[in-house]
This record gives sequence, structure tokens and C-alpha cells, in this order.
Amino acid sequence: MQPEAPEQTNEELILAFLADGGEEFTSGEALSDKLGLSRTAVWKYVESLRNKGYRIDAAPARGYRLVEIPDRLTSLELTPLLNTHDVGRLIHYYDEIPSTNALAFELATEGGFHGEVVITESQTSGKGRRGRVWESPPGLNLYFSLILRPELPPQRAPELTLVAAVALAETLREAGIPAEIKWPNDIQVDGKKVAGILTELSADTESVHFVVLGVGVNLNALPSDFPPEVARVATSLLEARGRRVPRALFTAALWTRLEHWLDRHAAEGFAPVRSAWRELSCTLGAEVLVKTERREIRGVADDIDESGALLVRTDAGVERVVAGDVEQLRPKVTSRTPSG
Ligand code: BTN
Repeated sequence: MQPEAPEQTNEELILAFLADGGEEFTSGEALSDKLGLSRTAVWKYVESLRNKGYRIDAAPARGYRLVEIPDRLTSLELTPLLNTHDVGRLIHYYDEIPSTNALAFELATEGGFHGEVVITESQTSGKGRRGRVWESPPGLNLYFSLILRPELPPQRAPELTLVAAVALAETLREAGIPAEIKWPNDIQVDGKKVAGILTELSADTESVHFVVLGVGVNLNALPSDFPPEVARVATSLLEARGRRVPRALFTAALWTRLEHWLDRHAAEGFAPVRSAWRELSCTLGAEVLVKTERREIRGVADDIDESGALLVRTDAGVERVVAGDVEQLRPKVTSRTPSG
């Protein structure tokens, strides 16, 4: 059974009400009624929030208005923005840890529940796919791991990586970034990587115990924040759209969309995820070189199958690839209008 979500603090509640009010003022009286606090107590909480970096306007006879939130990712910033039932109900925040995936795996092993999140400002040993390092400079990007306890047989667990890829690409497109998915789960903008997903599984032959879904998104990093070999192949939202991203807002939007797709996957299976993935992918139709642990396959990426494996059409027939790195040699051929 899922434990109760921890109660929101008075500061979180005040922020949630002010965030709901948008650009409108919320009266001190309304806040004190809603929270069952005196006007003086409300004022003290507002002062304490200001000391933590929140800009809150106060106007006589009108009340309070939230103008700016600090660029941090603690539950104080995130909880008031969240509308999720599971994702982010409990947030473990750190300034710096080795890897959110490693810590979330430990927490899940000790009974951590579905929806619990580990989030950090910086990782000293961020883990990428296939044993690579995920560069995690402090205070600029998003690094989190979500504990999931899906009711799935272990062989279907990889579907969750594609669920996350769809949620990420859609959230980025919503933010005006033309993101695409390169199989299996690299999120790219103009051929450069903006986000990555690393899922780690604990299971026996019958069932999944838990999945740790780790996500890294380059939000406000510049090329100079990365080592040169990473800067050559990576980009960020700041680079792609020329202005900084409010990280808490982006995170809340991503978690909401992630939960939507997790719910849909649980209710309807992989089919809707597969069709959304196809629409968002830049791999299908492209000429590719796939490097697996044991060999290289060259051909045209035709489709993903009902389990998310890549189907590559080669001279020798169709090859099914479950894991590997894809290099796109020639982009997909898009249909052109007669005048285009
Ligand atoms: C990839 O190589 O594309 C996957 C990168 C995944 C990075 C994220 S950052 C948060 C989480 N913690 C980790 O150590 N890795 C993942």
C-alpha cells in the first residue's frame, strides 16, 4: 500500500495559493482563512519566504502576489507547482551527490515508494548509458531519479524508457524546442543531445520489484560548462532558445507529463506510447549504423516493434536490435510537397 503523502508545510501552502493566484493579489485575510492562521502568522511566513529568495509583493488592502521564485529545486519550489498524484509526492533534495540513480536505487531497495524522487543540483559521478559519465555541472540543469513500482513482467520494463522519452520530448516541444527522440532514448535538438534517460531495474523472473528512472536535462548550461568533448555533442534549452529556463516550472511540467504517460501506459499498454514515440522520433526512416556490444549493423531504421526494439532493414533482411548506440548516417527522407 502507498504511504500517505507528507503534509505540506505552511510555507508550501502559502506558495501554492499565491502561485494559483498568478498575477493577481491574494488577500492576507483569504490566506489566513484558508490556512487557519492569524494575519501576523501569514506575514511571518511571507517574510521567511522572502529571506529564502522568493520575491513577494505586498500591497495594502490588496494582499500578496508571487513575483519570482528562486532558481532552486527543493520541495519548497516544486511542491506548490505540482498537480501529480504520485510523481514527486516525496522529494529528496541534495546540493551534491554522486548519482541520483545510485541513491534512488538504495532508497527503493529499502522500501522507497512509487513516485518518490531524488533530485540534486550537481552529481560527482552522474551515470550515463553504457557505462558513460553524465556531466552534471551545479545549479544549471536538471538531474533526478524517480522510483517506480509498475505492475509489469520484467521483459516489459524497457517500455518505461520509451514512456519517459515521449514525456520529455513533448515537454520540450511545449517549451518551444523542436526536440526529437533518437532511438532508444536520446533527446536531441538539431542533432545534439539535450537530455538522456537511464533506467535501472530490480526484478526476479516473475515480476519487477522496482525501476529507477533517471533523467538528465541540459537546461541552462552553456558549452563552456562542459568538457570540450561533451560540448561538441551536447546542447541545452538556453542554447536552443536563447533565454534561461525557470527550472522549477520546467521540472513540474515534465513530472506532470511523465505521470500522464505512466498512467496511460498502465491503463492502455504500450500501443499509444509506441505511436507517440514514432511521431517524435528522428531515427525512423534514417540510414543508421547501430553499434551493439558484439557487432555493427548498417541499414535503414524501419520501425520499433511492440516491445520498443529497433527494426533495421539491411541487405540481409530485417535485424531486431534491443540495445545499442545509433549513429544516423543520413537523415530520414521527409515527404515533400510538389512545390517544396
Ligand atoms: C544517457 O547516457 O543518455 C543517460 C543519461 C542519464 C543521466 C541521468 S542524470 C540523473 C540520473 N542520475 C544518474 O546518475 N544518471 C541519470
